[in-house]
This record gives sequence, C-alpha cells and structure tokens, in this order.
Amino acid sequence: MSTETIMALIMNLIPLLFSAALVRSDQSMLPLRSFKISENVTYDCIDIYKQPGLDHPLLKNHTIQMKPSVSRFEFKNQTGNNKTYKKEFECPHGTVPILRNSKEYITNAQFFAEKYFHPLSGDRPGTHIVGVRSSNGPFRGIEAWFNGYTLNISKEQASYSQIYIGSGLNNEVNFIQAGYMINPSVFGDGRVWSYGFWQGKDGKGCYNTACPGFVQVSHEVPLVEPYDLKPGVPVWLRCSIHQDKQTGNWWITLLSKPNVDIGYWPKELFNLLNNGANLVGVGGVVQASRSGSSPPMGTGKFPIGGRRESAMFTNIEALNSNYEQRKIDSFPIEKLIDSPSCYGLRIGKVKPFHRTLLGFFFNYGGPGGNSCGV
Ligand SMILES: *[C@@H]1O[C@H](CO)[C@@H](O)[C@H](O)[C@H]1NC(C)=O
Ligand SMILES: *[C@@H]1O[C@H](CO)[C@@H](O)[C@H](O)[C@H]1NC(C)=O
Ligand SMILES: *[C@@H]1O[C@H](CO)[C@@H](O)[C@H](O)[C@H]1NC(C)=O
Ligand SMILES: *[C@@H]1O[C@H](CO)[C@@H](O)[C@H](O)[C@H]1NC(C)=O
Ligand SMILES: *[C@@H]1O[C@H](CO)[C@@H](O)[C@H](O)[C@H]1NC(C)=O
Repeated sequence: MSTETIMALIMNLIPLLFSAALVRSDQSMLPLRSFKISENVTYDCIDIYKQPGLDHPLLKNHTIQMKPSVSRFEFKNQTGNNKTYKKEFECPHGTVPILRNSKEYITNAQFFAEKYFHPLSGDRPGTHIVGVRSSNGPFRGIEAWFNGYTLNISKEQASYSQIYIGSGLNNEVNFIQAGYMINPSVFGDGRVWSYGFWQGKDGKGCYNTACPGFVQVSHEVPLVEPYDLKPGVPVWLRCSIHQDKQTGNWWITLLSKPNVDIGYWPKELFNLLNNGANLVGVGGVVQASRSGSSPPMGTGKFPIGGRRESAMFTNIEALNSNYEQRKIDSFPIEKLIDSPSCYGLRIGKVKPFHRTLLGFFFNYGGPGGNSCGV
C-alpha cells in the first residue's frame, strides 16, 4: 500500500473510532451518529426517548406514541412519484434524526415565528396568502399533494406552500402547518426545505425542532430537510396532518414514496384542538421584507396556461369529525386571495374522467414585487 492509501484509510477510520467512542461514553445527550448532508446542515441521531422535543414543560408525563392507531397509508394504492424522495441517511433503530440548530438558526426562527402568518387572522403586516380553506369543522385532518419550486428569495423574505389545521376561540389560536418553505434567514441558505410550524396553548409559535414540542418518530425522514432543486423542476410532496383517534395527538405523515409517519405534535401542547380543528386549509403564503418587497410564490408565475405551468395543489382532502376522508370541495370552502395584483389563484376544472386522478385542485402563485399592499 502506498503512504497515501494508508493515510486515506486512517482518515476514514477516525470518524468511525470517534463515533464508537461516543457510543460507549453512555452520555445521554451525545448523538449516537451524525450525518453532515451539506455545509452547515448536520443531523444527529438522538435516542428517541431523549430527543429535545420532549423537554417541553407540558410533556413532562408524555408517553411516546410509536405509530398512529389508524394508519393513513395502509388503505392507499400508491401511484405517487417514486423518484422525488432520495433517502439521505438512516439513523440506527431507537434513535431519530434531529437537525443540529445553530444559535443563529434559533434566533431567526424565533423572529420569524413572531411574525408568522396565523391562518385564523390573515392580517399580519407583509403577509400575503392564496389558497382555499374550510371553516366548517370539526375536522380530524387534511391532506394534499403539492409541489415546491426553487425561487429567488432574499434575506428577510419567506415563501411557503403548506397545509394546515387550526382552531380559534376569543383571542386564542392553536394551529399546525406543514409543507415547504424557502427562508434564507432561518436556514442560512435559499433552498426549499420541508418544515412544520405549530402554536399551542403556551401562545408561542415554533418552527420544526427549533424549540421543544414536536416528537420525531421516524428514524429516516426528519421533519425538516433541504431539497436541491433545479429551477423549474419541482419536488412533489403528498402529506397529511391528522389527529390520532385514540390519543388525540396530531401526526404528520408522508404519503408519497416512501410512506412514512414522521412524528407528531402531542395533544398536551394544545387547548383548542382536543376534539378536532375548526378549520383546515392549503395554499401559498409569503412574508415581505421590512422594506415592503414581497417575494415570489409558487413558481413565481401567475396561474395562467396549462396546469403544469404554475404551482399546484391537488387531491385536497379532509377528514371529517368521524375521521371519514372527503374531497375538500364537499365542504363549504372559501377562496383566499388578498393581493390579486401580485398573486393569483385558479381553481382547477377538468373533465370528470380526470377528477378521480386530480381530485379537487388549483394552481396558484405570482411574482410578488414592491406594490403588493401591506
Ligand atoms: C404530571 O403528573 C403529575 C402527577 O400526576 C401531575 O402533578 C402534573 O401536573 C403532571 N404534569 C403535567 C405537565 O401534566
Ligand atoms: C392499485 O393500482 C393498480 C395499478 O393502477 C391496479 O391494477 C390495482 O387494481 C389497484 N389496487 C387496488 C387495491 O385498488
Ligand atoms: C418504485 O421504487 C421501487 C424501489 O426503488 C421499485 O422497486 C419500483 O419498481 C418503483 N415503482 C415505480 C412505479 O417506478
Ligand atoms: C435567480 O436569479 C439568478 C441570478 O439572477 C438566475 O440566474 C436564476 O435563474 C433565478 N432563479 C429563479 C428560480 O428565478
Ligand atoms: C454556512 O454558514 C456560514 C456562516 O453562517 C455562511 O457564511 C455560509 O455561507 C454557509 N454556507 C452555506 C452553503 O450556506
């Protein structure tokens, strides 16, 4: 063997030796393994019972639920896009992948959490929304199939595609949202990331695992992860948020390949979601920068032309109070569009033959700009 080969071998062994040392050290908070998937993006495989999400004071007595009592995916015939999900890594069984948060990430996540769009009171300065929702709950869940595109978003701006559930009473709101977001201030890069956001009875909003609350259960698909996309080529996500029939916890499940129950927000976090959510919805959201410049939404194009030419939500379905799955347009729905000069919405119209494939769908999006209103 040449000296170089030996050196290379030793260099490759060092991380191995190091991780073996970690395993033996028996210190609970040390990761059993770590995966650095790109510069500044590292996941630690943490013992599922010691994950930081459980540190929330409301979860002192919480028992982890390992899987939903009724699966969202065992009744489905998968025709989903097989190719979009590339498994990046897999944590050892008994551990879960948790994104390593920098101080900057936490601070910026808190800052954006305070400005965060509330589905029940759309009027936040600089926020614009497009989508559909139904307020005729209680609902036990929402699911949709939707795509995310890379966009040029500047610091201080954010652009989201999301599904959500929520309830409001007097001045209090509880909600959970999940989907894609581009938010360079939070993530430190301009990529598309999957995400989850919740606000419960403590009144604070929280992204992902930037603060405790979310319980990660899957050992291979984290709640939050980046996608490397070419301009104009979407990632597709088929995603569900539903309330567990037995425990009342709110699960997030991927229904595209692979079918995965990612984890859940425990019922203890909420006071208005015990018996379902008043409201469900899906759509795009943007947050303008302080100077008032609004970012693009969807593909950055208005929904004109063919249905593949702009961003889309399809197969939008809700679970009614009896956990029965129904197309969203079988409930009374509202169209949301608050800045039509910047962002558009076009409800899909297809022949009955196609309806079974697409379900209820719409195209949406737009370029944003400096005159989208407040
Ligand atoms: C946990 O259980 C103890 C004993 O039953 C109870 O006093 C306490 O209030 C519970 N804490 C929470 C956050 O539910
Ligand atoms: C699932 O889909 C395949 C291909 O479209 C079809 O042949 C099969 O009958 C379906 N199975 C069920 C249980 O619906
Ligand atoms: C989906 O992926 C699996 C595993 O890679 C493969 O076996 C299967 O043939 C694929 N199905 C389709 C419809 O491409
Ligand atoms: C973003 O901006 C760069 C440089 O101006 C441009 O080359 C690229 O096509 C833009 N991407 C999108 C998705 O608009
Ligand atoms: C990684 O973080 C550093 C410091 O925040 C930043 O300067 C750099 O651009 C980041 N790299 C990427 C690829 O985002």
